[in-house]
Amino acid sequence: MQDNAIITGPIVKEFSLKRGAELGVKKGALTKALLHLVQDLNMVCVDMWKEHANIADTYNHKNNYTAFVDNMKPYMDRIRIHRDLTTEAHKHIIDESLDFIYIDASRTYDSFSADYDAWISKVKPGGMIMGRGYSATIDKGGLVRAINDKVGIATSLEYSKEPAFTIESLVAHLRNNTASGIADKQSGSWYCWKRHVITK
Ligand SMILES: C[S@@+](CC[C@H](N)C(=O)[O-])C[C@H]1O[C@@H](n2cnc3c(N)ncnc32)[C@H](O)[C@@H]1O
Repeated sequence: MQDNAIITGPIVKEFSLKRGAELGVKKGALTKALLHLVQDLNMVCVDMWKEHANIADTYNHKNNYTAFVDNMKPYMDRIRIHRDLTTEAHKHIIDESLDFIYIDASRTYDSFSADYDAWISKVKPGGMIMGRGYSATIDKGGLVRAINDKVGIATSLEYSKEPAFTIESLVAHLRNNTASGIADKQSGSWYCWKRHVITK
């Protein structure tokens, strides 16, 4: 299982998040893991699964989409698929209808900011915003700066498989720290309550 699923799964379960959206799904590895772990979770899956003139990537979209469809076979009654740009798909989602969004599409300053602006209103007050890429090794185009500017990760806690840093400590941070988001430097996964988001 991917690092982001190992961490995100228990967080979704622990905080009883029941309706989420993944922006940038690729093969569906994360959504599959979440749907497997949380039986009453429903997910909105957003990915264009094709090349776009304004987005530089090296994905094999055909293979990824085939793998996604295969991965989703057991869960078709719990997903809604939007094969579209993230900055278009949000128009079909009702405001404050989601418990969480997971932002993991294009990783530039501008694309993250556009995704955040398009989707933040879809999350319920008290819902969670999460994503991946809060890491110098993953960040190639201002993503960490964009996450800081938009989401305001106020603290970070390094997650590792060592006993000192556990999934439980991430959950405890989110439960006890009402004023800050948290980023796991190892996987680049980050989590923040909507009520603590800095609106710019
Ligand atoms: C990093 S991968 C997603 C990985 C996935 N979240 C996971 O955990 O396995 C990024 C995906 O986002 C999609 N993507 C990038 N920019 C997009 C955009 N603006 N609109 C829709 N999909 C986009 C790409 O097609 C690619 O499949």
